[in-house]
This record gives sequence, C-alpha cells and structure tokens, in this order.
Amino acid sequence: PVQTLRDVPALRSAVEALKSDGKPLVLVPTMGALHDGHMALVEEGRRHGRHVVVSIFVNPKQFGPNEDLDAYPRREAKDAQMLTAAGVDILWAPPVEVMYPQGFATNIGVSGVSEGLDGAARPGHFDGVATVVTKLFNQVRPDVAIFGQKDYQQLAVIRRMVADLDMGIEIVGLPTQRAEDGLALSSRNAYLSEDERKAALALPRALGEAKRQIEKGDPVDGALAKAVATLAAHGFDPIDYVTLCDATTLEPMHVADRPGRLLGAAKLGTTRLIDNIAVDPA
Ligand code: PAJ
Repeated sequence: PVQTLRDVPALRSAVEALKSDGKPLVLVPTMGALHDGHMALVEEGRRHGRHVVVSIFVNPKQFGPNEDLDAYPRREAKDAQMLTAAGVDILWAPPVEVMYPQGFATNIGVSGVSEGLDGAARPGHFDGVATVVTKLFNQVRPDVAIFGQKDYQQLAVIRRMVADLDMGIEIVGLPTQRAEDGLALSSRNAYLSEDERKAALALPRALGEAKRQIEKGDPVDGALAKAVATLAAHGFDPIDYVTLCDATTLEPMHVADRPGRLLGAAKLGTTRLIDNIAVDPA
C-alpha cells in the first residue's frame, strides 16, 4: 500500500530512499476527495516509471472567511486506496500544525497574473496557493510537478512563481478531465443537487459556444455577453466573470489576435464552479 507520511523528517527520508535509483520524482499536489481528474495527473506522473508523491492537504490559507473550508470533502481512507491501486509511492498528508506551526509568518505573493479573475473574486486565494505550493516543493523537492488546466489561473500563477524564484521544477499542465456530458470533474461537484448538476452543464456549453463565435470572427464582447446571459438563464448567480484572456499573462483581451483562454466562474446555489477553454486567434 501507499506509504502515508505526516511529518517532514519521515517524508525526507522516504523521498531520499526513493530517489536513490536516480529516477525522477514527481509531485502531484491535491486537496484530496480524489476523482478521475486527479487520477489523470497521477497517471501522467507514473509515466516513464517515475516515482510519484501525491500530497493531500486542505489548505486553510487559500479559503476565504466565508468559503467552504469546513465543508470541503475529506475522505483520506478512500483516497489512499485509490493511490495504492494507482501505484503511488508516497502520500504526503501533513496535519495543519506541521504545515503552519505556531509563529508561521511568511507569505508568497505573485503579482499580475494572480490579480484578476479568481484573484479578484477570492482575495488572498492565490497567496494561499503560492505559499502552500512553495512549502510542498521545499518539503518534497520534486523534479517535476503536475497540475490541471481545470484551475488555469492557478497553473499560470505557479509557472510565474517557479520561473521568478528559480525553483528549477518542471511544471506540467494537463487538460481538464470531464464527465461524459462535458462538466469538468471537481471535488466541489459533490455539493450539487440533481437539478443543479443538470444546470451546471450550461457553463462548459456557454464557454464552448462563445469560443466558436469568437473563432469564426464575431466580436469578443458580444460573445461574452451572450455567455453571461445563458448562465443567468440557467440560474447561475452571481456570475463572477466570463472573460477572454491572454493564454499566458491572463491579461484581458477584447480582440482575438493571439492565443487566448476563455475563463468563467459562477455560483449555482451555494456551489462555485469554474471552467475554461482555449480560444485560437480568429
Ligand atoms: P485540488 O482542487 O484538489 O486540485 C488538485 C489538482 O488537480 C490541481 O492541479 C487541479 O487543477 C487538478 N484538477 C482538478 N480537477 C481536475 C480536472 N477535472 N481535470 C484535470 N485536473 C484537475 O488545486 C488544488 O487542489 C490546490 O489549490 C493545490 C494546488 C493542491 C494547493 O493547495
């Protein structure tokens, strides 16, 4: 079975033992409640016989005061079974007091790319993500770390941080894994009622429709407004944003003249959903 570790010295010696054969070490950071989206990252990690460490840590620093930290699904026993079946070497599952001991005072903030979109809708969120991911990188010291494009802005923030701070870790971004009907897999989908689960499909569909319009040359702002109207008609409220951004810097784009990313975030009942899709220049 996967080796579950909860303190840094134990993690360090297990990692050293793994690395002694010279094969690269891959880290897949998660907050648990694992689904097929997470497992696709794990499978990518396992490719070419690399060693894989999966971390599960529900990071209080990236949740706002009125967000779902307490409600966030926690099922480590089931997660450990899935990781065992997938051939993962180490499950790194530190308690909060190991990650943030008394007196913890450091914050990692990434300007620019973390400021709009979810950075605006969730103040402090990306500082929390950047801080915990830096800690995970320093604890595990992986050669490669794998993230999902599902959280596209998070991936962009981490790429910026790794480059800026010379972290020397290869960042791999994997395409979003979706349910058969197209909804992006997410641990938060567990919050949706049956009716909300059906309405949720409007998010990937509205983004897909706006992508088609923009790629055939329709005005960007009109296509975005139509997507917002579609979401509102399906009961999404509030709609935090539907925006076309530069695929790398995430600066807003009003003309599709270079590779873009269309990103949306909105609430259905109490559940906040996000999704995004590539938009090629018209
Ligand atoms: P979490 O939401 O658990 O996601 C862990 C990783 O799985 C992230 O890289 C996320 O983008 C990826 N992921 C989630 N759903 C996916 C899907 N449907 N397809 C592909 N990848 C998917 O993101 C976090 O945790 C945290 O912010 C973390 C990076 C662990 C820092 O706390």
